[in-house]
Amino acid sequence: MRMFDIISKKKYNESLSKEEIDYVINEYTNGTIPDYQMSALLMAIYFNGMNYEETTNLTLAMAHSGDMMDLSEIGGINVDKHSTGGVGDKTTLILAPMVAACGGKVAKMSGRGLGNTGGTIDKLESIKGFRTKLSEEEFIDNIKEIGLALTGQTGNLAPADKKIYALRDVTAIVDSIPLIASSIMSKKIAAGAGAIVLDVKVGSGAFMKNMQDAEKLAEEMVKIGSLAGRNTIAVISDMDEPLGLAVGNALEVAEAVKTLKKEGPEDLVNLCLELGTQMLIASKVEENARGMLQNSIDDGSAYNKFLEFIKRQGGDITVFDDLDEFTECNYKIEVKADKEGYVQRIESELIGEASMILGGGRMTKEDVIDYSVGVKLSAKRGDYVKCGDCLATIYAANKDKILEAEGLIIKAFEISEDIVKTSPLIKRIISCKNI
Ligand code: URA
Repeated sequence: MRMFDIISKKKYNESLSKEEIDYVINEYTNGTIPDYQMSALLMAIYFNGMNYEETTNLTLAMAHSGDMMDLSEIGGINVDKHSTGGVGDKTTLILAPMVAACGGKVAKMSGRGLGNTGGTIDKLESIKGFRTKLSEEEFIDNIKEIGLALTGQTGNLAPADKKIYALRDVTAIVDSIPLIASSIMSKKIAAGAGAIVLDVKVGSGAFMKNMQDAEKLAEEMVKIGSLAGRNTIAVISDMDEPLGLAVGNALEVAEAVKTLKKEGPEDLVNLCLELGTQMLIASKVEENARGMLQNSIDDGSAYNKFLEFIKRQGGDITVFDDLDEFTECNYKIEVKADKEGYVQRIESELIGEASMILGGGRMTKEDVIDYSVGVKLSAKRGDYVKCGDCLATIYAANKDKILEAEGLIIKAFEISEDIVKTSPLIKRIISCKNI
């Protein structure tokens, strides 16, 4: 087999066989196929796509390119949740303890942020002492004992995806449906997830900008998950404005704590209830889960589970005693509206970019992030604002980037006299029953 012939085949829009896909993944992972040939093949896939069989074969080849975790020792059906990437998305921090408080077994494998989207690992590392690297044994023990554990992607889990994702990132080949679907699902399958709930974001701040693409991505991942024997459900949710009010690492942890203490913003609470319901259904704990999840917030059991989880992974829970101190930052600058009217939309990408340039995110993998910085919104879509009202507060560690961040935030807010039509946060739920 020659890589040249495989690239050429995809260039002319022919489908690749399982043997060809296995060859590419094995030889690229062990370094025999160079980056320039792999980039050429990925670009051909970007333009010509892959059929369902090719995407499934690609997913399974990447999943088996390294270690496969076996979580069967936990018993029952463990569940993982994955978001395709959003701005202000701190749902894992809230959902995982809610679901665990309701009897679910949450085996969460999380990533770091890159560009204008955040990562759960970075958010949790804003808590003094919190450990995001667990051995497989500790991961399993924690789930067995408290129903919940969270770890970063271990060294040899789906190494083919790690290498390919890094290449896609620098060659502008990230936003391809078969490549996103296979990347996400290969990691979940290799990590031993029994059930998988996918939060597929759609809108200006997401990879999928329209509903048609979001549905295609969701359906593809649900089909792959089901074929691999993992109960998989996808929730398509809105990303036409940031989720909740806080964007930035410590700011998002503080918002998660408030949400667990019944003071969360409406959109965030609703999304957590919906995703949590699907997680409990997917792991077959409870068919009527929404009430149980709401109760876990109302009776404090979800918050207690959160504290237990943070403590268990080495985090200092006294930091939550005073959230103002936890989110303390050198400069807090209000960004004011320069006109009156209804907020039509808040371009998530620009708010994420503002947080990133303040130091809250990474432009390259090597960048060191500042946990204290970010943006806190004071207005959301549909709100009426007067000239001079505060739209958002910038949390900055130094003065350098404040003006640039302010410009991005002003640009992100589209304000006009038109009354805003509400659009649902949850657009569609897709399982193998309704594809
Ligand atoms: N998240 C992933 O893990 N992979 C992608 O390709 C896109 C988002």
